Amino acid sequence: MNIILLGAPGSGKGTMAQKLTSELKIPQISTGDIFRKNLKEETPLGLQIKDIVSGGGLVPDEITIQIVKNRLAEADCANGYILDGFPRSIVQAEALDAFQDIDCAINLDVDKETVVKRLSGRRFCPDCNGTFHISSLANATVCPVCGGKLVIRPDDSEATVRERLRVYEQNTLPLIDYYAKRGNLVTIDGDGTVDEVYARIIKALHR
Ligand code: AP5
Repeated sequence: MNIILLGAPGSGKGTMAQKLTSELKIPQISTGDIFRKNLKEETPLGLQIKDIVSGGGLVPDEITIQIVKNRLAEADCANGYILDGFPRSIVQAEALDAFQDIDCAINLDVDKETVVKRLSGRRFCPDCNGTFHISSLANATVCPVCGGKLVIRPDDSEATVRERLRVYEQNTLPLIDYYAKRGNLVTIDGDGTVDEVYARIIKALHR
């Protein structure tokens, strides 16, 4: 099954993708994680996109599309995948349609206040890409999965979150109409506990 997760920054795409990937046994492809890895390793790509990502903007479509195209050609995607954070613009969606069939686009619907609350308490593990919230961590500095050091993402500052939300509304929100018109959009109420939201997704996928 080829699944897209849509939703505002902090709507829970990464959290839900991690649960889906372990249940459905198909990989999570997060463009955000791919970019963060390049930033951490200071690759030529990382240096090129550093200011864009830290400012909350979008990496140019041509770069992002090529990265996803290469990743989806890998063997582990043969039985399906979960795209987390891609596409993020109409240009990206059209490019994806040119080489892949998408079964379902899941839109996580969460209000702005919830998003800000979630992102202000988010902790990220750069070693295993785990995403957590301080409210569910016994120790806010140690990854409960791999023991790595948890960090606050640099783009989770209040000013950058505001910019990411603006960029989302301008570039990514139109994708809801795009997939609705194709008849494969499922909108999920993203408010509630992680387990509640996940159960709604599973129910929708079984329909
Ligand atoms: P990316 O990493 O994709 O960031 P994002 O889309 O802004 O999404 P987030 O990772 O912030 O949030 P999320 O929806 O995954 O929520 P999460 O599960 O973490 O991209 C980063 C940057 O890379 C972009 O700004 C851009 O520069 C670049 N980029 C990436 N893709 C690109 C593309 N296609 N084109 C161009 N540029 C691109 O949850 C958030 C918090 O809430 C966590 O703490 C979590 O524990 C908690 N939480 C989640 N669900 C619940 C729940 N139900 N109840 C309570 N807490 C919850």
